[in-house]
Amino acid sequence: MGTLGKETPKKADILDTIGHTPIVEISRMSPSQEVRIFAKLEGNNPTGSLKDRIAKYMIEHAEADGRLTHDKVILEPTSGNTGIALAFIARRKGYKITVVMPENVSVERVQLLQAYGAEIIFSDGSKGTNGAIVVAEEIASKDSTYFMPYQYGNTANPLAHYETTGQEIVEDLPETDVFVAGLGTGGTLMGVGKRLKEYNPGVKIVAVVPHPDDVIQGLRSLEDGFIPPILDLSILDSRIMIESQDAFRVTRELMQKEGIFAGISSGSVVCCAMRLAEKMEKGNIVCLLADGGWKYLSTSLWTREFTDLKD
Ligand SMILES: Cc1ncc(COP(=O)(O)O)c(C=O)c1O
Repeated sequence: MGTLGKETPKKADILDTIGHTPIVEISRMSPSQEVRIFAKLEGNNPTGSLKDRIAKYMIEHAEADGRLTHDKVILEPTSGNTGIALAFIARRKGYKITVVMPENVSVERVQLLQAYGAEIIFSDGSKGTNGAIVVAEEIASKDSTYFMPYQYGNTANPLAHYETTGQEIVEDLPETDVFVAGLGTGGTLMGVGKRLKEYNPGVKIVAVVPHPDDVIQGLRSLEDGFIPPILDLSILDSRIMIESQDAFRVTRELMQKEGIFAGISSGSVVCCAMRLAEKMEKGNIVCLLADGGWKYLSTSLWTREFTDLKD
């Protein structure tokens, strides 16, 4: 009693629990027995999304090269997940953080940010994440106290996915033929795409984007003219547009058929994988399920008819 047992592996730090997320087969979602669909569950990260990976990388790279010191305040424009992940890392490492977010993000995101101790500045909801970017850039340009990781232009974002997410897929499912993920900053698709293509040049990298006038939290259409600087479109083999109603429907189906409680962008990714599977003779598709369902409970997605839901 009173001593730490030696038989169970221990992590020295909560930050060591980021990544190494499970890959599970979701056979009930596949329209064909010859095409196997797998889901990588990023909701299993400490704050419930893939963004824990990039938050850790962006902060630790900035610490290493001296851009981030304890007299600075971290500032980031975000639709939620990156802000929550950065706030988590900031709390653990003792930094102050301010996030700029569109005012219409889900209430769970606001509450989580408050729980992690972040200050929140709300931007015009009708201007979406692009509006939050403009506000954050203006604040940072006037005050050098702020350090802005800026996930859209920070090479540590795709690097995190190259060295961790992509590497894990190569190790856990080397026979991957198609990789499908949502496009937000493009970090996931760039990093994982580069690693998988290095391993198997024949692999197909597919981006899921929302229709230009539709909203799927975390994803962006490129039609509004903002191309994230880290995005290299030559890594993508195709871009598939998904409507939010289909994303909602498949998010519910994932819960009903597989017992997987995932966020709405995950529904859009699996919906896209199902469409691809219909056209393939055989093969393995890996879907990146970016977050868990917790932050979307207030949308009533799982308790109301999805056809009633707007966003
Ligand atoms: C829920 C969700 N899905 C997908 C993405 C897209 O990931 P990436 O920024 O790596 O393109 C994000 C990014 O914000 C997200 O929050």
